Amino acid sequence: MKRSRGGVHLALVSAALLAASPGGGEAAELAEYDKAASEVATTLIRQFGEAMRREMAKGGPTEVVKVCADLAPELAGRLSREQGWRVTRVGTRVRNPLLGMPDAWEQQVLATFAERAAKGEDLMGMTHSEIVTEPNGRYYRFMKPIVAQPHCLLCHGPAEHVPEEIKTVLKTTYPFDQAIGYQVGDLRGAVSIKRPLGAE
Ligand code: HEC
Repeated sequence: MKRSRGGVHLALVSAALLAASPGGGEAAELAEYDKAASEVATTLIRQFGEAMRREMAKGGPTEVVKVCADLAPELAGRLSREQGWRVTRVGTRVRNPLLGMPDAWEQQVLATFAERAAKGEDLMGMTHSEIVTEPNGRYYRFMKPIVAQPHCLLCHGPAEHVPEEIKTVLKTTYPFDQAIGYQVGDLRGAVSIKRPLGAE
């Protein structure tokens, strides 16, 4: 009788430990956040793609520069305000350092995306997420690759793909531009989401 009570007690304690351990608890927490973050990232990539096709059909290439320059940050800004998370777009090589430059965590994840792709994994289906602790709290972080499509090369491709009039616009607006020389299928960057979590 005594022994079996002890056994039950021990089982309860280990169940409680398991729930509190970073392994079990965090995995469940991550799965819950992953679903929501994937939805937001996919929405951003889809809306951006639709806007780009629409503007390319309407105007010339210089109008389309506005889509990548204005509309993408605008969409990301709106999603950030609506969700209370930071939703951004970062590049492997950057055109606009203010909005596009990855932080240390993002640089590492971009590098692992490239490694995974080199081993044969499809960039389109890839994501990475983690819960990180920073001086002012815990954050859920998520990234999803942005892959170069044929029409992106007009402004991000090798020099011979970029029409002269676009080169001129890019050169004057972004004198430190590094976001060129991409091929179709290359890792152009990622949607990056940072969601504040309450104190532990
Ligand atoms: C007509 C020109 C043009 C086209 C086409 C274009 N972009 Fe851009 N892209 C830009 C400009 C300009 C910026 C800088 C935006 C800014 O000022 O924040 C940019 C920035 C970006 C960034 C943010 C990182 C950085 O380098 O600053 C990503 C990611 C990106 N583009 C991906 C794409 C993808 C993917 C496509 C194709 C679906 C695409 N772009 C098509 C002009 C273009």
